[in-house]
Amino acid sequence: MDTFYDLKKQAREQWILQNGPIAQSLSRVKHKIAIFSGKGGVGKTTSTVNLAVSLAKRGCKVAILDADVHGPAVPKILGASGKLDVASHRMPGGHHSHSECEGHGQHKAGCTHEHHQGNGHGHSHGQSHGHGNGHGHEGGHFGGDTHNLRFEPIKTPYGVDMVSVDSIWPGRESPVMWRGPYKMRVIRQFLSIINWGELDYLLVDLPPGTGDEVLTIMSSIPGLDGMVVVSTPQDVSTIVCSKAINTAREMNVPILGVVENMSVLCCPHCNNAIKLFGHRSAERLAKMMEVDFLGSIPFMTEVNESSDEGIPVVIKHPESLVALEVGRIADCLVSKVETAGKGGEQGGD
Ligand SMILES: Nc1ncnc2c1ncn2[C@@H]1O[C@H](COP(=O)(O)OP(=O)(O)OP(=O)(O)O)[C@@H](O)[C@H]1O
Ligand SMILES: [Mg+2]
Repeated sequence: MDTFYDLKKQAREQWILQNGPIAQSLSRVKHKIAIFSGKGGVGKTTSTVNLAVSLAKRGCKVAILDADVHGPAVPKILGASGKLDVASHRMPGGHHSHSECEGHGQHKAGCTHEHHQGNGHGHSHGQSHGHGNGHGHEGGHFGGDTHNLRFEPIKTPYGVDMVSVDSIWPGRESPVMWRGPYKMRVIRQFLSIINWGELDYLLVDLPPGTGDEVLTIMSSIPGLDGMVVVSTPQDVSTIVCSKAINTAREMNVPILGVVENMSVLCCPHCNNAIKLFGHRSAERLAKMMEVDFLGSIPFMTEVNESSDEGIPVVIKHPESLVALEVGRIADCLVSKVETAGKGGEQGGD
């Protein structure tokens, strides 16, 4: 029979086996922050992208992991339609060696192509996972341990690196059809086999709710600084956001604060503030849940227009109220995580 010592050793070995590659891949990332919400369509992705670009404008090295596998939108807003490219082979034991393909453009491209071959015909492959046949694909769409490959994140024109499911098949028209375990595996692979390199901030854009993707991020990122909750000023949103906050608490993940999005509409004619959602506020949610309120982002049509153009609003309209407010929230986050890193209190938790 196993002794307590044996069980402890086994558990530690199991943890290293499962989480070692992620811990190693993120070892040079100073701060990891995930953006989530109980509610869909409240502006998580818009906030994530503009916060990331604001941080980059302040001289930080930033990357975004788009963990919304069914509705990835980060590439569109960042105008980044590239495909993940092979960086190097990963040697057993977590060491990397440069791929033979590296530095030889043609081979490199060929290598990537070869690697994705079969998967690129996403319809049939995706379907197969839908039917449960994909469970044997331990390596998944990246090859995983069987292929021992590492990938470079996509560079964007705004100083922010990015990785998304869209970066596997740029331009793909149908959504991926993945069930929970497979999504979890792909997200964990994003964390472990991307060359995230040295970063000040890794922001993770999450899908709405508290499903597989959110739980995977909360449980897989070592030293996750915390979560930022985005909500519109409406009970329909704040009520589900309070549940999302409770989920993070149950997972022992700190809440860095609440961002209120679409707080007011600035009338383009008279500049008056129109309360789109009535008189509710997400600040009340923050108070009720005893977490910090990070700030309010107004509704401006420029946000939609610039996002559709693939230019984040903080770049296209740097003097707009939205850009100024996002910048203020970015400053607030920086001071929060830096203070926490120096032993200060984190969030309201
Ligand atoms: N402050 C804003 N002003 C104007 N439009 C906005 C603002 N914030 C977000 N939007 C628009 O609202 C829509 C939803 O935004 P976004 O995709 O960022 O939300 P989301 O919470 O990430 O959605 P999902 O739950 O689907 O991931 C988009 O059309 C976006 O351009
Ligand atoms: Mg989104």
